[in-house]
Amino acid sequence: MDLKHIIESQQFKVPRLMALFERANMMKKIVQRGGTLDYQNKILASLFYAPSTRTRFSFESAMYRLGGKILSTEQASEFSSEIKDERLEDTIKIIGNYCDVIVLRHIEEGGAKRAASVSSVPIINAGDGSGGQHPTQALLDLYTINNECHSIDGLSVAFIGALDNGRTTRSLAYLLSKFDRVKLYFIAPEELQIKNDILEHLNEHNISYEILNSTQNVLKNIDVLYMTRIDRARLKSKNINFDDFNVGPSVLKKLKKEALIMHPLPRSIEISPEVDLDPRAAYFRQAENGLYVRMALLTMLFENE
Ligand code: CP
Repeated sequence: MDLKHIIESQQFKVPRLMALFERANMMKKIVQRGGTLDYQNKILASLFYAPSTRTRFSFESAMYRLGGKILSTEQASEFSSEIKDERLEDTIKIIGNYCDVIVLRHIEEGGAKRAASVSSVPIINAGDGSGGQHPTQALLDLYTINNECHSIDGLSVAFIGALDNGRTTRSLAYLLSKFDRVKLYFIAPEELQIKNDILEHLNEHNISYEILNSTQNVLKNIDVLYMTRIDRARLKSKNINFDDFNVGPSVLKKLKKEALIMHPLPRSIEISPEVDLDPRAAYFRQAENGLYVRMALLTMLFENE
């Protein structure tokens, strides 16, 4: 892979995505065999300025499964020298001396790009700001879709929830725009709808989409229901019917038999726990796939050195 840093999902074209997915399948087999020691001289630094369960643990597990080692701070704004006013750029230059790759979750949109501009080692964007991107989440999302659907071409994908600040929605929409005949639905209360930069990108790539404020009339058309969290505190309108943005038994009845229900997690009230038993609920398989996709990404980055 000729990428040095992984900052946004637009960096991935279809052949590179397919090579990554093939590598992730291989990584799954390696994990089933107990891992490898092939990368025992590699060190990953995980630098998280915001909380994370899946992204941090799966990257750290990925490095361990590859035989490597990790340096980690789960609350960098408190336990790094940022508290003494150190600039992100300086922190990155220093940590780059001690490791082979930095996985960064930063509170500012554009934080990963700033880090990459000064870094001697690869930067992987593990989520930047509230309106930025989360490209490795989108890669594992698309890997899950590719494994579980006949083809990505021709799929109808509905994004539901707080889409304006949804890093995962933004990154996955960019990836889906690389495929043929996909149809995207953005379903959210008006004040939380997807931003214009994504719609402009879809227009430029002739991707068909609809903006809706309820799932009611489209459930029967959807192949992938991509749920995201809605933070009620952000809603100005008090008369929002949350049933339009939740998955429960009534939605399950209307969805296609072979549809996928996805969620980057963590979930709040938008998916009832009883949905977990439905075979269409893919979100825990999706989170597991994060390990294989992140192992694959790390090995591809290390091959560039
Ligand atoms: N999906 C995701 O990014 O989860 P975490 O915030 O737990 O890493």
